[in-house]
Amino acid sequence: MKFTQSAVLAFAATAVAAPSSTTREKPRAAAAACSSAVSLDASTNIWKKYTLHANNFYKAEIEEAVKTMDADLAAQAAKVANVGSFLWIDTIDNIAKVEPAIADVPCNDILGLVIYDLPGRDCAAKASNGELKVGEVSKYKSQYIDPIVKILKAHPNTAFALIIEPDSLPNLVTNSDLQTCKDSAAGYRDGVAYALKNLNLPNVIMYIDAGHGGWLGWDANLKPGAQELAKAYTAAGKPKQVRGIATNVAGWNSWDQSPGEFSKASDAKYNKCQNEKIYVTEFGAALKTAGMPNHAIVDTGRNGVTGLREEWGNWCNVKGAGFGVRPTSTTGTELADAFVWVKPGGESDGTSDSSATRYDSFCGKSDAYQPSPEAGTWNQAYFEDLLRNAKPQF
Ligand code: GLC
Repeated sequence: MKFTQSAVLAFAATAVAAPSSTTREKPRAAAAACSSAVSLDASTNIWKKYTLHANNFYKAEIEEAVKTMDADLAAQAAKVANVGSFLWIDTIDNIAKVEPAIADVPCNDILGLVIYDLPGRDCAAKASNGELKVGEVSKYKSQYIDPIVKILKAHPNTAFALIIEPDSLPNLVTNSDLQTCKDSAAGYRDGVAYALKNLNLPNVIMYIDAGHGGWLGWDANLKPGAQELAKAYTAAGKPKQVRGIATNVAGWNSWDQSPGEFSKASDAKYNKCQNEKIYVTEFGAALKTAGMPNHAIVDTGRNGVTGLREEWGNWCNVKGAGFGVRPTSTTGTELADAFVWVKPGGESDGTSDSSATRYDSFCGKSDAYQPSPEAGTWNQAYFEDLLRNAKPQF
């Protein structure tokens, strides 16, 4: 049964239902608390006070997705629309998404944004190569970062959580043998430092992307990884609003599965960080030594099911994945501020069309869902699988 009236009503009812928790406030237009400027104290876990906002862009994607679902699944999907998640600002044009996303943020919510448009982006892969070419760092600064700064400054009463440039610095640590990453390196370092320095506003908290346990968690990568991030932080003038790192962004690792998913692999002895909980602890210690704030937020958006990847490094549209733990500041680990949803579940990691310019062979692997559309675009079948496989279920 497709597109039933009841499915639509179920969606509508859930989507507009009054906030269930008493800690949530009315939409900002009506709420007095929003009339004062936000000041986020980066020496504290701000997620104890703020809820990750369920942004209206992802909501709209789900509202579309629901239309072709049977009633049961549609009712579950409607609940996904109320889960907080990050909004990706992956092009200059998509800066236009920010203002509309601010409009419905309640006073106790925080809007999550992913800053993602470095020149020569995704240097070790092809699927997410971006619009800016190597060498266009001044364009990155003036046409991408500066306009975002302007918007965030114009909304001092709204709280923002930013994840800075997924994969960029980690790629410089482990893929510096690739010519593409060599070419991107200077722009990444300059661009990230510029972003950190200029986005350092009182209503903003920042987390620099640190890959995941299967990446910088290797014994040989922990220290250079921490030093690379600390270098960017220092180059930016040690901005006050940097709280630490984001891990597992668009990733698949379990938070605390033990023994870890890949602990039986022959090279497991070289990596203590067999789950994200250990990674946050180990990398956090390395960051402290390197002189950088070391608290973490961890993407649990798609890590509900493990045991799916043939190899730890497989990153593209992993087949059989399920939505994971919903955003919460209850992590049980002091260094982990919160579990958050960063990758919008349902948006593709990369196309499986081998004739496409951005085709990456990882998206053609046997554990990668096919067919899959271009990175960032909606894959209805994949979304429905995430929903069916969700753990906990919706
Ligand atoms: C990928 C895409 C990007 C998209 C993001 C979130 O990294 O390259 O365009 O915004 O995923 O789905």
